[in-house]
Amino acid sequence: MKLPHYGDDRGSLVAIEANETIPFEVKRIYYIFDTEKEVQRGFHAHKNLKQFVICVKGTCDFILDDGSERTTFKLDSAKEGLFIDGVYWREMHNFSDDCVLLVLASEHYSKEDYITNYEDFLLQTRNI
Ligand code: TYD
Repeated sequence: MKLPHYGDDRGSLVAIEANETIPFEVKRIYYIFDTEKEVQRGFHAHKNLKQFVICVKGTCDFILDDGSERTTFKLDSAKEGLFIDGVYWREMHNFSDDCVLLVLASEHYSKEDYITNYEDFLLQTRNI
């Protein structure tokens, strides 16, 4: 999704409003940065979570797998975000040294919401 971008000769500003720019109430914000070289993150799905992912600095690859197809999104712009709604297996690869990945989430952190085993994830997608 393209984000409302207010740029002028002083610089850039992006504003995100819950339930307006993005279609959910934001209950949690976290960001990933200072990633080590060649690191890969994620490798889980969520049972019930909406997320909006913005690479506010640098670049990385964000993979979404729906159980039959893997799609790689190259995140390289602070003016765009990836909206995730549904049970997708997530992986993050190819972080640039300066990457800062900001995630807005619809729920508080809950370990119970995670599916960390790929076979369990496949079973879940087939039960839906
Ligand atoms: P982890 O799920 O391994 O990160 P990634 O999805 O990028 O691979 O999370 C790393 C640690 O941070 C883990 O101990 C759980 C903790 N954590 C929280 O406490 N709250 C959060 O909102 C998140 C996303 C993680």
